[in-house]
Amino acid sequence: MTDLTSLDYFSDEALSQSPFEYFDQLRSHNPVFREPHYGVVVVTGHREVTEAFRNSEALSAVNAIGGPFPPLPFEPAGDDITEQIEAHRHLFPIFEHMVTMDPPDHTRARSLLGRMLTPKRLQENEEYMWKLADRQLDEFIDNGHCEFLGEYAKPFATLVITDLLGVPEQDRAEFRDRLAGQSRPNVGSLDHTPVATNPLEYLDDMFSGYISDRRSEPRDDILTGLATATYPDGSIPSVKEVVRPATFLFAAGQETVTKLLSAGLRTLGDRPEFEQRLREDRSLIRPFLEESLRMDSPTKVDFRLARKTTTIGDVDIPAGTIVMLCLGAANRDPRKFDDPNEFQLGRKNLHDHVAFGRGLHTCAGAPLARVEANVTMNRLLDRTQSFSISESHHGPAGNRRYTYESSFLLRGLTELHIEFTPVA
Ligand code: HEM
Repeated sequence: MTDLTSLDYFSDEALSQSPFEYFDQLRSHNPVFREPHYGVVVVTGHREVTEAFRNSEALSAVNAIGGPFPPLPFEPAGDDITEQIEAHRHLFPIFEHMVTMDPPDHTRARSLLGRMLTPKRLQENEEYMWKLADRQLDEFIDNGHCEFLGEYAKPFATLVITDLLGVPEQDRAEFRDRLAGQSRPNVGSLDHTPVATNPLEYLDDMFSGYISDRRSEPRDDILTGLATATYPDGSIPSVKEVVRPATFLFAAGQETVTKLLSAGLRTLGDRPEFEQRLREDRSLIRPFLEESLRMDSPTKVDFRLARKTTTIGDVDIPAGTIVMLCLGAANRDPRKFDDPNEFQLGRKNLHDHVAFGRGLHTCAGAPLARVEANVTMNRLLDRTQSFSISESHHGPAGNRRYTYESSFLLRGLTELHIEFTPVA
């Protein structure tokens, strides 16, 4: 067996395509393992990842998406580097978004998001999704084939969020063109291209306009609800403080959902027995999606910075250590999941995966992502008699060629070509 543990996870293309054997080897040395290239502590065990997510007292989220890139802008000193982090926070990628914040700022930002994702709003948004799924399928269903990411998943995921936030109908096509058509910001790229501190400037401009407008002239619409939302203590957020959680939903919810949808569909295409079972019993769609999240976790890894000297598992973690929490590895930890590399619909601990993280920063959009995927799978099965993976693009069954994004952070197909017989 080749020893993979000395490879550079952050640059190695083959590992970005297929990371699981690497994760397994690290875990068998120690579920908490210091890799040799950047000194990043790689956590691959389910128990240890969960423990680290919950230890927000000692582990800061300031480097959640960049990990070791760019390198820390200071030399860590002592057993508590909280002050150093706060003095340099503005130098970390997307520092103005909640995913990199720590309490108390994180608590405030997340409370505003709670005002946006009310049960009523989510219910109305689901009603929109059923119609949107049909509209999206109408664009190509008669062709009998499609490239699923570009023609369905990306525009669908983008438009769902425009609806959730109440973007006016006349602006939605522009959002779709700007967000679902372009390649994404270079998050997690293997050449370590720096991520802009604010890659969402276009959205910031649009939403600042909406919010300022509704503050001066309230209307009977969803954006007015956002514009007038207050913090739990009654204080009024600045325009920027309202805009940021709103715009972040696009960054957090588009690529990840696209990856879940395409991973699920690929499995159905490769395993016709699952397609058959789901066609016969739609209640299996939900467990099917949970197992997809476990097997193909769209957020492969997540980062933390030790602000206080602490431990993870049996390993000492000095303050200043960059920690990589490997969700994709935790979800295939054999100590937690029997036959972890097998896709099983009847898994008893199906919901124990950590694909949405854990602790303070647990994915705020998890319920939404689940509904998006459930609606999509149902509609696809409704509107097709059968579907299959395109052999001309991906090769024959048993010898498929799939390409994943070159990323150390996310895991998702670059494209997925399918063929189908539409329902008459
Ligand atoms: C399958 C799809 C998705 C996956 C796998 C996913 C995964 C994650 C993960 C792992 C985190 C935790 C990050 C951390 O702890 O550093 C997270 C956070 C977050 N996600 Fe998702 N996500 C998905 C879909 C969505 C959607 C659809 C939305 C909203 C539209 C969303 C909004 C957020 C937000 C706002 C956060 C930050 C929460 C915080 O910092 O408190 N996500 N997501």
